[in-house]
Amino acid sequence: MKLHGTMKINSLSHLEIGGCDCTILAKDFGTPLYIMDEQLIRENCRSFVKAFSDHYPDIEIVYAGKAFLTMAMVKIIQSEGLSLDVVSGGELYTAYRAGFPMERIYFHGNNKTPEELTMGLELGIGHFVVDNLAELEMLDKQASSMGIKQKVLIRVSPGITADTHHYIQTGQLDSKFGFPLYRDSAFRAVKEALDSKSLIFNGLHCHIGSQITDVNAFTSAAQTMLSFAARTKEELRATVNILNLGGGFGIDYTGEDGNLFVGDFSAPITATVKEALKKYRLPPPRLVVEPGRYIVGNAGTTLYSVGSVKDIPEVRKFVFVDGGMSDNPRPALYHARYRAAVANRMSNSYGEKVTVAGKCCESGDILVKDIRLPEIKSGDLLAVLSTGAYNYSMASNYNRLPRPAVVLVKDGRADLVVKRESYKDVIRNDVIPDRLKK
Ligand code: LLP
Repeated sequence: MKLHGTMKINSLSHLEIGGCDCTILAKDFGTPLYIMDEQLIRENCRSFVKAFSDHYPDIEIVYAGKAFLTMAMVKIIQSEGLSLDVVSGGELYTAYRAGFPMERIYFHGNNKTPEELTMGLELGIGHFVVDNLAELEMLDKQASSMGIKQKVLIRVSPGITADTHHYIQTGQLDSKFGFPLYRDSAFRAVKEALDSKSLIFNGLHCHIGSQITDVNAFTSAAQTMLSFAARTKEELRATVNILNLGGGFGIDYTGEDGNLFVGDFSAPITATVKEALKKYRLPPPRLVVEPGRYIVGNAGTTLYSVGSVKDIPEVRKFVFVDGGMSDNPRPALYHARYRAAVANRMSNSYGEKVTVAGKCCESGDILVKDIRLPEIKSGDLLAVLSTGAYNYSMASNYNRLPRPAVVLVKDGRADLVVKRESYKDVIRNDVIPDRLKK
């Protein structure tokens, strides 16, 4: 099996990540367990910065925190010199409490609450990415009342339908995100921002979707955005200092999704941007991209203990693990596919086809369907690969399952960065009203 990052098979035929034997991690931290490979996260950050900076002079890489955010992750992003995209008060609070520089924050979201707007203004964040007119007006009013001049980007919905699961398409006309170009909605938003009392129009943003593997979707978006920038310059004298093209860079989950390297995206995107700048005679803006999945996706592995194995002759052999859609809802939501390995018996021989199912009370709680694995039995450890993005961050307490711990591994060290939830944690916010206590 093709391993990546710091993964290797040690002399005991165990899977090792960041120099840590997975069987020991399971003993020390329990299962299910999210294991994050720090070196690979850092390598992903660096290759992203390099791939874009090699082709364009003014680049800002903004990590999309929704993919995976903890206070330790904030520290890694900060030390790698990336900026941070947050999409809620909770993500902003995490960044703030971890000491992240607020000037490097972009605050996204289609329905920021008045409290979230105030929080961002009070903390002095760099940019709000404004999604709609109500938000624009509310932010202007609030900033004025606080005596603050606030930089904003206008989020444009460029009318591009990317080839990915429709739940994670965002750039098409029928989308809840951003101002459509259609009927001049985005144009009027730029005008309002320029005319506002306390907002400083600093540029444009778009994000066309997630897990996109076709670079043409990005280059079309870049073209569309620059043609729009040219129009706002000509008709409104607007200056786009920042062109933020969002995230969505796809990764290889199965070993069959294609070898996707950031360079395959950065070279055509920056070439398109440069060409369009020439064509429209625009001064070069700062180019911003917002990868989430690409930074952490392949750096995460989820380790499960195998419980029962249920063989339905001639139909299917189920392998049950001690987690499921509560720690990884992606297969149920998007039919996402993953690779898996038996971490305590790594072998190149593949036995029968099995289906890995979780323990949630739901037939759709399937983690990996029809996968060939070496013979597997109760008590084995199953590693599901490339779970670093949108697993921990989308985990729930469905069936009142406590959420797993997260460990960060590097050079043979394993540090707990999120504690495992206990049953006490599960009930910590429950309240029994007095009238029910009798
Ligand atoms: N920027 C904006 C404005 C976004 O909305 C997103 C993702 C990103 C950047 C980062 O996209 P990435 O590079 O990670 O693809 N839960 C889904 C993905 C939802 C993505 C939402 N927005 C999944 O598990 O596939």
